[in-house]
Amino acid sequence: MSTENLFEQLRKDHEMQRDVLDMIIETSGESEARKKMLKVLDELLTSHAKYEEIYFYAPLMEMESTHELARHSVAEHKDIDDLLQKLKDTDMSSSAWLSTAKELKHLVEHHLDEEEQEVFRPAGKFLAEKEKTNLAHQYRDSMQSHRDISI
Ligand SMILES: [Fe+2]
Ligand SMILES: [Fe+2]
Repeated sequence: MSTENLFEQLRKDHEMQRDVLDMIIETSGESEARKKMLKVLDELLTSHAKYEEIYFYAPLMEMESTHELARHSVAEHKDIDDLLQKLKDTDMSSSAWLSTAKELKHLVEHHLDEEEQEVFRPAGKFLAEKEKTNLAHQYRDSMQSHRDISI
């Protein structure tokens, strides 16, 4: 059983997203590599945002001191989701695909950096130790089925 704390787990998933984003913009046309990377990215972004909202942002939303931070991040999840949807609806063989992928990369990287630099510290301060441990276990268990995604 992993003893990683909540923040280590979230960071690890962020790193995976960064790696896939780096790789996806190196793909071209309607290739198998591009199709595979898009599928992996879709899985990663969707599952991470979902369980992060349930196990990380929900408790932060309930506290006055972290409410605004949580609202901001969840709003960004929606922006990322909308742009991901746009990418999925764009013809892979068109040049618009790569520019939308780059836009998504930029948006996601901004979001991940902001979470790591501006949300984790106050969250670490305001969440009780026991709660962090519980949330880490719940997050990990929920993400488990997505962990074997090979990139
Ligand atoms: Fe997030
Ligand atoms: Fe995150």
